[in-house]
Order: sequence, then structure tokens, then C-alpha cells
Amino acid sequence: MSQTVAVIKGDGIGPEIMDATLQVLDALECGLNYKFVDAGLVALEKHGTLIPQASLDAIEKYGIALKGPLTTPIGKGFSSINVQLRRHFDLYANVRPAVSFPGTRSHYDDIDMITVRENTEGAYLSDGQEMIDDGNTGISVIKVTRKGSERIVRYAFELAKQNGRKKVTAIHKANIIKTSSGLFLDVAREVASEYPEIEFQEMIVDNACMQLVMNPHQFDVVVTTNLFGDILSDLCAGLVGGLGLAPGANIGEKAAIFEAVHGSAPDIAGKKIANPCALLLAAAQMLDHFGMTVKGDAIRQGIRAVLENRRDMVTPDMGGTGTTDTFAQALVEHLKG
Ligand code: NAI
Ligand code: MG
Repeated sequence: MSQTVAVIKGDGIGPEIMDATLQVLDALECGLNYKFVDAGLVALEKHGTLIPQASLDAIEKYGIALKGPLTTPIGKGFSSINVQLRRHFDLYANVRPAVSFPGTRSHYDDIDMITVRENTEGAYLSDGQEMIDDGNTGISVIKVTRKGSERIVRYAFELAKQNGRKKVTAIHKANIIKTSSGLFLDVAREVASEYPEIEFQEMIVDNACMQLVMNPHQFDVVVTTNLFGDILSDLCAGLVGGLGLAPGANIGEKAAIFEAVHGSAPDIAGKKIANPCALLLAAAQMLDHFGMTVKGDAIRQGIRAVLENRRDMVTPDMGGTGTTDTFAQALVEHLKG
């Protein structure tokens, strides 16, 4: 198989973790070709735009991108590139697994859940037209549609079905935000009724935060709207040892972009201590997407083995004394071993 992947190295720690990830993919002999394209600050400096047309064209052509984190400059006039990419390609499902790995600073060692976040509507509209901002009052709109809710809830149930998972929890605030969150909950109930073999649970978002911290094992697949999903998936990353271990896939009908949940970490950029695991796990999700689950599992198992046995090669955020490069090297040695 010869599949081309559009690769965006990204800003800050992006190039460091991407180089580590590509080394591992090459060691696994996945038969992938890479088309390197720019986005983010790098693109702004080189091409005067955060997301050049050539980069959009490459993602459109190949349908798959592996993306490092992108810095969105703070201040008006720049809307998030990530939000733009998700909306441009209608990448409606943001799939964020939270799985425990050994030797992390997590309070739990046996978490295995997936957050499915609606990725194109909700409170993240970003094109500016829906907002009122006169300097004294700011009004932001939350948009929830039947179509958007139905496809994300169905995605969550299908994911549960295909992966032998037993339960889907819809997380909402329908008691207060009745119009939009209420619609999401109504649609979630309707879709759930088509999957009697999978347990359906509904939970209000504030309670869900407490439950996730106190009793996370009750969760299996979680489905929710954009803003809640953004926040809850970082909480879930905290359950498994932090953002360094949290990958995410942005899936649409025609394209998919795989990335780490974390950002460009400007505070540690260039120090060679960025944890490459989140991007590596995103690459594993990409291999699953291609049907190369055995190779995806090899990355996940390999990370587990390095975390357990090669503490000297693990990055400091996971309590090790190694660097981004030593982690990649240890993983490559394990895979080739
Ligand atoms: P961040 O995720 O970049 O950093 C938060 C904290 O986690 C920092 O202390 C950082 O050092 C640490 N951290 C993050 N990734 C790490 C890794 N792989 N290894 C070790 N430590 C790691 O979030 P922040 O600081 O809020 O955002 C920085 C920039 O990233 C902003 O410009 C933001 O817009 C962008 N961003 C981009 C995302 C994307 O491209 N998907 C997602 C989130 C933020
Ligand atoms: Mg986020």
C-alpha cells in the first residue's frame, strides 16, 4: 500500500515531536509517503498566511494529515487555525482516547475511555459573524443542529459497537442551556434507542467533571458538544498522566487530521524535552484508520514497554531523565528488537 500523508510539523515543540514520530513510523515500515506542508506561525512568516492554500490542497488531495500543534497568535484578526481546519474539512468527530500507561504521574493506572467531541459547531463558530462585541457587551452564540448532533452521537455509538465497548454517556447542560444543549440531548436519546445493546447514560456536565475525577471507571465512550468536549478531554488527559499522553483524531467524511491534544508548548520549545507520546499515539490512531491496527498496537505496546523499562530514556514530564530523541530511539530499538 502506498498512502501519502500531508505532514504539518507545526510550531513550538511541533518539529521536535514530529521528527520523533516520523522516525518511529519509518522504523515500522508503514509504507507511507510524506508531503510536508506549512501551517501556523511558520507559514505566516514564510507565506504571509497562517494556512496557505497549498496546505489545504494537500490535505484535500491526500485526505489524511498528521499535524503538529499550531500557535494561533493572540489578538483580534486571527481565528484559530485548528478551528478553521476542522470546519474547512468538516471534521465533525474529534476522537480522544484516554488510556492509562505505566510509570506516569496519574492517580489511576487503569483508565480506558474515549471522548467523542462534536468538532464543527457548538460554541466554537470562529467566523465572527455570530458574535456581538461592542466593547461593553460580548455575546457569543452556541449553535447546535439536529444534523450535527445526530452524526456525532451516531459516530459515538458506531465506535462503541466496533470496539466492543458497552456504554455511551451523553454529557450536556440541557437543564440550563435548554435550546441548544436540550436539542443535543433529545437527539442523543433518539439515536441511543437504535442501539439497545449498548447502555446509554446521560449526565449533566458539572456532575460529569466530579464523577470523572471520583469514579472514572464508570465511563466508556463519552459523547458531547464542542466546548464541553474540549474541556472534558483535557480533564481525561489529566486522569492518564497529562497532555503528553493525549492524542486526538479529527474525522470527517472526506478527510481526517491526526494530532496531539496539547498545544505548541512555547515554554519548553527547543529544549528537547517535549514528550512525543501524544503525537505518536495520534500516529497510531492514523494507522488504525488505514486498517493497520497491528502497527498501531505496536506503537501503543512499545510506548508501554519504554515507559516501564527505559526510565532513563523517558521525558521529564513523565518522571524520566531522557529527551524527545532518546524516547524515540528507545521506541525504535524496541520495535526493531
Ligand atoms: P500547551 O498544551 O501548549 O501547554 C500547556 C502545558 O503543558 C505547558 O506547560 C507545556 O509545557 C506542557 N506540555 C504540552 N505539551 C507537552 C509535551 N508534549 N511534553 C511536555 N509538556 C507538554 O497549551 P498552551 O500553553 O495553552 O498553548 C500554547 C499554544 O498552543 C497556543 O498558541 C495555543 O493556541 C496552541 N494550541 C494548539 C493546539 C493544536 O494545535 N491542536 C491545541 C492547544 C493549544
Ligand atoms: Mg483544547
